[in-house]
Amino acid sequence: MNLMEIDTVSLSADDSSVVIIDQTLLPGKIELLNLVSSKDIWDAIYHLKVRGAPAIGICAAIGMYVLSRSYDHENLNHFVEQFMADMSYLDSARPTAVNLSWALKQMGDVVINYQQTNVDNVDNLVNKLKEKATYLKNQDIHVCKTIGEYGLTLIKPGDGILTHCNAGKLATIKYGTATAPIYAAHERGYNLKVFCDETRPLLQGARLTAFELTESGVDTTLICDNMSAMVMKKGWIDAVFVGCDRVAANGDTANKIGTSVVATVAKQYNVPMYICAPTSTIDMDTACGDDIVIEERKAEEITDMWYTSKMSHKDVKVYNPAFDITDHSLIAGIITEYGIARPPYNESLNKIIKEKENARK
Ligand code: MRU
Repeated sequence: MNLMEIDTVSLSADDSSVVIIDQTLLPGKIELLNLVSSKDIWDAIYHLKVRGAPAIGICAAIGMYVLSRSYDHENLNHFVEQFMADMSYLDSARPTAVNLSWALKQMGDVVINYQQTNVDNVDNLVNKLKEKATYLKNQDIHVCKTIGEYGLTLIKPGDGILTHCNAGKLATIKYGTATAPIYAAHERGYNLKVFCDETRPLLQGARLTAFELTESGVDTTLICDNMSAMVMKKGWIDAVFVGCDRVAANGDTANKIGTSVVATVAKQYNVPMYICAPTSTIDMDTACGDDIVIEERKAEEITDMWYTSKMSHKDVKVYNPAFDITDHSLIAGIITEYGIARPPYNESLNKIIKEKENARK
């Protein structure tokens, strides 16, 4: 199986399950998983079998269609109750990436609009849910490709690029967000040199980004998280591209833990730091980074995972936030499918969201 040819998330041919690549097994094994029940989907998102903000949103959207096939098709009100219960259950799997609640809301709106028409034919509603989930998936592919083209305008042939975590193909359906400009440049023969932070504690950079870029033939170098200052001081990095889990209205950005360290170091060495953000990740209802809920995960991810025996004192306290906030003052630009937002972000993000709303009319 070639990883790059498989969609990260898809609907099975018989519509009975969500198919994902089990990312906890990468890079050792490429295995597909079929998620059938709401618990399967919740567990897959919580345990990071599927991860990355856009991918978990699409997984939940397709999941809601799959689940809706088994609800009460004789009684619309009962159907809606079942739908809403599963929707809030899936939404509880991870708190920081806004794409999860965004995608679920898109699906929920289909149900609410349908209910308001008072048509009691549930089968049509189920078809509409399939259409919406398929649209969201295709839209994700288009959005990433467009971000890639805007991002490409910020890169020169031969540039060194640093990235953190995995905002690659595995975090979306195809192309990724932070990797989309890299893939676009690679297709055009730019000969980039890409440095991937390993991204402790779950190693998304080492296991996923370095894997997918190397498989794609991109010149890729893996570094530990504490090496970014070294490579920047040496002048090897011309730009940093990362993804995001939620961008607040003022541009403060939640992304994988360690992103704000990279941003701080980049500022010191005058390297521009770009956030690649589908507009579905921009949350204008959140004023600033302090208002973003940061997921905290189990201590074992730091103390036990990847080691044959516990590597720290058994009684030591552990703090394991999965994300941090990069202050907007450290960000040179936010690359969206509607163009590149520049400071002041309160104004530029507002303009981009308005443009999106107008494009929909
Ligand atoms: O915990 P993860 O692996 O889901 O965290 C992923 C990230 O932080 C990504 O950078 C972010 O979701 C953007 S993916 C396009």
